[in-house]
Amino acid sequence: MIEDNAGDARLIQEMLTTQKGIGQIERVDRLSKGIDHLGAHTIDVILLDLGLPDSQGLNTFEKIHAATKQVPILILTGFNNDATSLEAVRRGAQDYLIKGKFDADLLFRAITYAIERKKLEETVERGTLSLKASEKRYRALFDSIDEGFCIVEVIFDVDCKPLDYRFLEINASFEKQTGLHEAEGKLMRSLAPNHEEHWFQIYGKVALTGEPIRFTNEAKALNRYYDVYAFPVGEGKIRKVGILFNDISHRRNLEKQLQDAERLAAIGATAGMVGHDIRNPLQAIIGELFLSKKEIDDLPQGNVKKYLAESLQSIEDNIFYIDKIVNDLQDYAKPLQPSIEETNLAKIVEDVFSILKVPGNIDVVYSIEPCLAKLMTDPAAMKRILTNLTSNAIQAMPKGGKLSLDVASKEDRLYISVQDTGLGIPDEMKDKLFRPLFTTKAKGQGFGLAVVKKLTEGLNGKVSFESELGKGTRFELEFPLKKVPTSVTPAHFKDAKDNGHP
Ligand SMILES: Nc1ncnc2c1ncn2[C@@H]1O[C@H](COP(=O)(O)OP(=O)(O)OP(=O)(O)O)[C@@H](O)[C@H]1O
Ligand SMILES: [Mg+2]
Repeated sequence: MIEDNAGDARLIQEMLTTQKGIGQIERVDRLSKGIDHLGAHTIDVILLDLGLPDSQGLNTFEKIHAATKQVPILILTGFNNDATSLEAVRRGAQDYLIKGKFDADLLFRAITYAIERKKLEETVERGTLSLKASEKRYRALFDSIDEGFCIVEVIFDVDCKPLDYRFLEINASFEKQTGLHEAEGKLMRSLAPNHEEHWFQIYGKVALTGEPIRFTNEAKALNRYYDVYAFPVGEGKIRKVGILFNDISHRRNLEKQLQDAERLAAIGATAGMVGHDIRNPLQAIIGELFLSKKEIDDLPQGNVKKYLAESLQSIEDNIFYIDKIVNDLQDYAKPLQPSIEETNLAKIVEDVFSILKVPGNIDVVYSIEPCLAKLMTDPAAMKRILTNLTSNAIQAMPKGGKLSLDVASKEDRLYISVQDTGLGIPDEMKDKLFRPLFTTKAKGQGFGLAVVKKLTEGLNGKVSFESELGKGTRFELEFPLKKVPTSVTPAHFKDAKDNGHP
């Protein structure tokens, strides 16, 4: 008790000694003594008279309050509705009591409440502080991780079907990991309209069931592949969803390349062996097939002949497909040793078109400069190159079109082009075209162009292409020109102008 009026002090002391639970009461009559006392003792509560010999009014409260923030202070005042005491309460005093207007019970209650209230305030303050600190720690952690992190709110329709999700919070790595700018507060569909449906389904499920999920999946709209951990945040029927994610596109590409490399090595190792073992029986089958077709020709007309002919045709188509695979594999796997010889290029072109079945809705136009009909090159490699380019061209024109094959020369270079009016090649595929195993076809190995490139380069040539989506594609081969020394052009090679379907 800091009270200079001895009478008031005694009265209060007497009131308190009648109450249970009141310990020792110390009294000083100066503010300075009170402050000294605080330093030396443990105090539960301060009863403070504002008007003291060494300090007056609010100043008294401010000084003692500055000396101790922990001890609750009760103001003793002589006035009703005292503005100064009220201000002291506003600034942190627990309460004020008007001298002469309280009895022992009221005083005791005021003291007890003051102590309890102060404890409560401290607990709340400590809680707020630690909350702020943990919030700060959380934010720092949130922003320091390299992984992307966000909290989203999934938007559902009336049937609980997820429609979209909104980003409530995102971390610093979010933008780098997604390429999405200023996403906070925005809906995913407004940022990436083509984002796949499965993302909405997965987050919708987490929001509804409250079960976390870990998965990897592709986000084509963002052109990335992600490793994701999605978990529920908060309580309630529909929860928010926390999403921790990592762009693993680079890792996936490396894995894919490694898989392809392993596959190619395995293919390389087995191709030679298997190719040889398959090729001999295959040749035998082709021979038998040829004979069977001839024998069928001699059968009388009728259903039996018709059905047999159809069956043989189907067998032949599939045999040629197997033959192409075996050839491609071998050409790709084995080292190329070109055997350059006098080659009848026009005959090769004719062979290619007679082996490939050209559908009726495709017009074939080919032209060969007569002087280029005979050349020094590797006939088998040329045949394989042209077979692959023309079969691709045919496959690119499922609705028909025009296939042009041109052989021309300029100075000492030979140019061969194969052009179609088909589907064309999308820009994003253009740099993958010559990679082995790259195919967009259900029934394709993806070896055709890899073989074309390998054989062309093996003959010191170059292959290039230009393509426009929906208009068509033109492949061009360029070789050093090596003419046959005698330079004889046989009479049966037609002129370039009037050449047509073989
Ligand atoms: N003329 C073309 N027009 C359009 N796309 C083409 C053309 N040529 C090649 N392509 C594309 O390039 C891909 C690779 O061709 P490639 O010949 O290497 O393999 P493939 O034809 O798919 O299979 P296969 O091993 O049977 O040849 C094709 O799947 C196709 O998507
Ligand atoms: Mg092909």
